[in-house]
Amino acid sequence: MLINPSKLALGVLLGGGFFAGFVFFVVFHFGMTATNSMDLCISCHEMDGVYEEYKKTPHYNNASGVRATCSDCHVPHGKTFPDWIDKFLAKLTIGTKDIFHHTIGTYDTKEKFQAARYEMAQHVIENMRSRDSKECRHCHSLEAMDIAEQGKSAARKHKRMMEKGGKTCIDCHTGIAHEEPEEPDDEDDEDDDEK
Ligand code: HEC
Ligand code: HEC
Ligand code: HEC
Ligand code: HEC
Repeated sequence: MLINPSKLALGVLLGGGFFAGFVFFVVFHFGMTATNSMDLCISCHEMDGVYEEYKKTPHYNNASGVRATCSDCHVPHGKTFPDWIDKFLAKLTIGTKDIFHHTIGTYDTKEKFQAARYEMAQHVIENMRSRDSKECRHCHSLEAMDIAEQGKSAARKHKRMMEKGGKTCIDCHTGIAHEEPEEPDDEDDEDDDEK
């Protein structure tokens, strides 16, 4: 029996389409995963101080042996579609910005990077706040905290957060992985404040 040529063409087209979709998915998925690796982040951020500081904190080394890597905290992730969109947008915007500034050498010395850190920290904190510290909550949750084991002030704050809400982790816990950069007192540097 002869195969109808138009059916054959349709078959090839559909098959090809699925195959292309599959290849796209694989490349895209593993691309997104590879760009999360700490080695990649360190390849640029090793010399600017953030990595050195992070290595001295409990998020790098602790008694339990659970490590939070750069992307655990910095790359939005989760199971919902909006999480996926946030992740994609973060990679597209932050990733491209990082590569752009790296390539043109905006912060090619440690001093230049240090001078810009305060501003960068504000972006990071703002992003985390807008996601209600979701990346922190992938590992930490109020429900799983043994409040009785915590110090007085931690217990009080966390209890209040459970009862009243309103605050998010990053409101109280900055400077957990890097030294928190100090606000420059030079007013001339402040150009991105929304008024
Ligand atoms: C190609 C070099 C390069 C790589 C790779 C890289 N960064 Fe960056 N990163 C930079 C530069 C340059 C800046 C400063 C300019 C800017 O804000 O993008 C920066 C800034 C940042 C900031 C501050 C962003 C802000 O909103 O101001 C964070 C957070 C960050 N990087 C995290 C990461 C993480 C996490 C990874 C790995 C997933 C990573 N970077 C990989 C070069 C890089
Ligand atoms: C990948 C899991 C993971 C992520 C993500 C994570 N943490 Fe942690 N965090 C830990 C572990 C593990 C410890 C160490 C616990 C111990 O003391 O054994 C810790 C310790 C802490 C501590 C106590 C030690 C200190 O440095 O003061 C605070 C506070 C904390 N985390 C807040 C945060 C916040 C805020 C975020 C989000 C920006 C966050 N964590 C993201 C796993 C994580
Ligand atoms: C209103 C302020 C406040 C908020 C909001 C808050 N915390 Fe805390 N937290 C504290 C204080 C104060 C301490 C004790 C001092 C310290 O370790 O910084 C503490 C301590 C901790 C510790 C160390 C506990 C220990 O005894 O080892 C962890 C982990 C922690 N917080 C995680 C979180 C996470 C995750 C969130 C968000 C779900 C959060 N906190 C929200 C104020 C807060
Ligand atoms: C436990 C969560 C956590 C981990 C792990 C983490 N960071 Fe951060 N990072 C933060 C927070 C929170 C800030 C906002 C400023 C602050 O509080 O120190 C920040 C700020 C930054 C900034 C802006 C400049 C500055 O000094 O504030 C850069 C760049 C950065 N991180 C890169 C990295 C890289 C690269 C790694 C991995 C080597 C990493 N971070 C690991 C939580 C984390």
